[in-house]
Amino acid sequence: RSFIRVLGGATLISIAGGIGAFVYVTQKERHPGSQLPYDTSKKTIVILGSGWGATSLLKTIDTEEYNVVVISPKNYFLFTPLLPSVAVGTLSPKAILQPTRYIARHKARAVTVIEAEAKEVDPFNKTVTFEDETEIKGKVSHTTIPYDYLVYAVGAEVQTFGIPGVQEKACFMKELNDAEVMQRRFKDCIESAAFPGQDDAEIDRLLHIVVVGGGPTGIEVSGEIHDFLEDDLKAWYPELAGRIRISLVEALPSVLPMFSKQLIEYTESTFKESKIDIWTKTMVKEVKDKSVILQMPDKSIKEVPCGMVVWAGGNKGRKITQDLMGKFPTLQTNKRGLTVDDHLRLAGADSIFAIGDCTSTSYAPTAQVASQQGAYLARVFAQMAKKEGLEAKLSELQKTETVAVDTTEKTGVQSEIENTKKMIANVKIRPFHYSHQGSLAYVGSDKAIADLPFANGNIATAGVATFLFWRSAYLSTLFSLRNRTLVANDWLITKIFGRDLSRD
Ligand code: FAD
Ligand code: NAI
Repeated sequence: RSFIRVLGGATLISIAGGIGAFVYVTQKERHPGSQLPYDTSKKTIVILGSGWGATSLLKTIDTEEYNVVVISPKNYFLFTPLLPSVAVGTLSPKAILQPTRYIARHKARAVTVIEAEAKEVDPFNKTVTFEDETEIKGKVSHTTIPYDYLVYAVGAEVQTFGIPGVQEKACFMKELNDAEVMQRRFKDCIESAAFPGQDDAEIDRLLHIVVVGGGPTGIEVSGEIHDFLEDDLKAWYPELAGRIRISLVEALPSVLPMFSKQLIEYTESTFKESKIDIWTKTMVKEVKDKSVILQMPDKSIKEVPCGMVVWAGGNKGRKITQDLMGKFPTLQTNKRGLTVDDHLRLAGADSIFAIGDCTSTSYAPTAQVASQQGAYLARVFAQMAKKEGLEAKLSELQKTETVAVDTTEKTGVQSEIENTKKMIANVKIRPFHYSHQGSLAYVGSDKAIADLPFANGNIATAGVATFLFWRSAYLSTLFSLRNRTLVANDWLITKIFGRDLSRD
């Protein structure tokens, strides 16, 4: 009995300890302590963007060495891999957002966070002009600031290829607002189909969801819509759920060209079981109010009625990026994005680094690449600060040498000069090296696919275990304890109570 009592006591102590540690960690997150003020004697780094590249840099950079200013139209970081889960209500929007000020508050020196959209970069005068684009504006809503270094990390926007109707009539899956719009429209389609007296053809039209693009975004969105249908809609709309159709349209001969062949086949067979139609070699030519116009593999044109189109047709450069390229017409000629060297310096410009989806490199435009580039730049800035510090010390020593009077003093200073020169020579800024950690995608029905690097090769895995790995990988990649808690909580709530059906 005493053993049980000791065990019980130990358990209670460890639970209390666990709660104490949790409270301490969360309190520390909320009250991170004081920061050093902005220092005009230090160089200023202006970071454009608050996405994967910018946030990874902000998390890693040593702000003791620089003043840091972040400018972004969104005052938060969006965890894009879980965005399709928000679109069907598996997760709440807040779970995958991290306010940029939370990250900035944990730095040693105060970081300036400005919610504004950069409108122009002047690489010759080293300035950025930005504007408050929100509904409420103060007396000042447009200004220009100088930078010593600029980190250009504005990402990309959705590529529509100028196809008629896409911009105005389709839903996208890039920003948080896109997921919210899609969720609202999808629920609207179902409620309109349930309207009394709706005829059969109209019900079938409203319940036909067309997803365009067989890249990972299109695949994950289709999988998530299917889960919503199976897990919730079948119970709440039994007379309609069986009539919901999901069609995935892809212009290329296969979906997910970046994954291994067996994973493509696995995805196709999972979609077949889930009754998601895949139309490859089929190109969307127009999006209309109630239909899509398709060019079929035999080049014939077909009009397909549908209630909603989700467009996941890839990336293109933002206008500000195209304008910046236009300032270096002979060097910035790659239509896919900004050309950078192997140290991520913008070709043709002085003191500008560009990272992530706005660049055109040999890497895919992924979060993995952008975040590694952000962390790399933090190391580059640390090395640059170290070098500048040593150079300043060298110049001081050289001044001392010229005024030194006795030989012993002169010899001492000379040896220190030699040492400092060696230290400067040892400060190496290596080129960016990308380390691929694997590709993962959710395909619906609690199944995921993964191409993981192993030794010098690759392991392809798929199924429910891979889905659990997918979940744990993204849970651990989330930037904060707050987000991890919210996401884990939402997964649990969805499992127990299902997804919310209300349409706001
Ligand atoms: P972003 O993360 O897009 O950030 C750009 C930032 O710039 C944003 O904060 C934006 O508000 C800001 N900005 C825009 N215009 C301006 C301006 N004019 N001035 C200042 N700031 C501006 N990749 C993976 O590796 N794994 C995944 O599982 C994965 N899943 C994804 C799922 C979805 C639905 C999507 C859409 C993408 C996914 N990606 C994934 C790709 C990944 O999100 C991108 O590659 C990544 O976001 C690129 O990072 P970035 O910093 O270049 O751009
Ligand atoms: P994508 O560029 O990978 O795929 C877009 C697809 O749309 C292409 O296959 C293209 O052929 C097709 N398409 C374009 N126009 C079309 C038309 N008119 N008709 C029919 N099909 C058309 O774009 P996606 O999926 O948005 O991904 C963008 C980037 O983000 C990629 O680098 C991707 O790897 C990354 N990403 C990674 C994820 C993951 O790792 N799980 C998830 C989502 C995105």
